[in-house]
Amino acid sequence: ALPALVDRFGRRIDYLRVSVTDRCDLRCNYCLPKGFNGYQEPADWLTFDEMERVISLFTRLGVGRVRLTGGEPLLRRNLPELAARLSALPGLTDLSLSTNGTQLARHAPALRAAGVKRLNISLDSLSRECVTRITGRDSLEAVMQGLEAAQAAGFSPIKLNMVLLQENADEVDAMAAFCLERGYMLRLIETMPMGSSGQSLGFVPLGPVRERLVARFDLRADATELGGGPARYWTTADGRGHVGFITPMSQHFCASCNRVRLSVDGTLYLCLGQEERLELRPLLRSGASDEALIAALRDAIELKPERHEFNEAPTRIVRFMSQTGG
Ligand code: GTP
Ligand code: 5AD
Ligand code: SF4
Repeated sequence: ALPALVDRFGRRIDYLRVSVTDRCDLRCNYCLPKGFNGYQEPADWLTFDEMERVISLFTRLGVGRVRLTGGEPLLRRNLPELAARLSALPGLTDLSLSTNGTQLARHAPALRAAGVKRLNISLDSLSRECVTRITGRDSLEAVMQGLEAAQAAGFSPIKLNMVLLQENADEVDAMAAFCLERGYMLRLIETMPMGSSGQSLGFVPLGPVRERLVARFDLRADATELGGGPARYWTTADGRGHVGFITPMSQHFCASCNRVRLSVDGTLYLCLGQEERLELRPLLRSGASDEALIAALRDAIELKPERHEFNEAPTRIVRFMSQTGG
């Protein structure tokens, strides 16, 4: 076996997020600005063959977890075919997907059959008006149908991602009750400033919200890992319900970062909140050998920054969240 990927700060990289398209059918205020049309050209999209090749090299370097993201990943044609090909890679132990849920009702059974086990679904409110204000589309009903289809198809766990904003802050308790009752893991997320977008519907720190939920739902801090990611979890007294908190702004988790990101145009981003990157597409399309690609990946890991600088104003990140899928 090849030596694992370890960065300059001793962090073992074993989690790859792969954005399969930068397009999306929603316009979430914290992700894309109004009128955005800076999409990648189809000629620059990695093909499934190219993605599978890069991912299989990563698995040989000890990356066992892969999360498919977007934009909205279900807009990429034949996504279940890619998922099935990835599931068949010997080193891949955890294949998951992050989706906005609008197309999920149609795709859930095929995705499950293709080997995707865990789903993270975005839902910022249970109020139709509020969802429409945040996502720019009247999308609540479609997402609700997607959630039910996902449960029926046997995905487990199903995590529900709620980005906390001033706009939806008074709906957290209702969302927590809804998720605990239905068996979804609610994750509350602090909004990050990306591009010119991210915090225009108001930043709300999670600390006080967590204190309130802990008291109201009698939650206990939970040391067990319930995913591969940055969420910290609290659990109900009977041990069955979980609420996760993702606090990049008020309490960042960069010291335990385990991930890098591949965008649809074949750029490897070393950090969500920094610009360090490796352009893989030119290498892939000029006949680079597996050995040359592996050497390039190792060099890139050396560039991984210690942490994000989202808290420094003005933000230096010019790309939008839709480009890396969070
Ligand atoms: P699992 O733990 O594997 O279930 O997934 P996850 O929570 O890492 O993935 P998901 O796509 O659901 O992302 C949830 C939120 O965490 C999104 O807002 C992401 O932008 C954020 N996030 C994920 N990874 C990172 C990271 O490395 N750094 C920062 N700052 N935010 C991250
Ligand atoms: N800050 C925090 N989370 C974000 N997401 C999208 N944009 C932002 C942002 N600016 C979340 C989505 C989705 C996840 C993949 O990333 O809500 O659940
Ligand atoms: Fe890792 Fe960068 Fe995210 Fe911090 S901001 S956890 S270093 S990807």
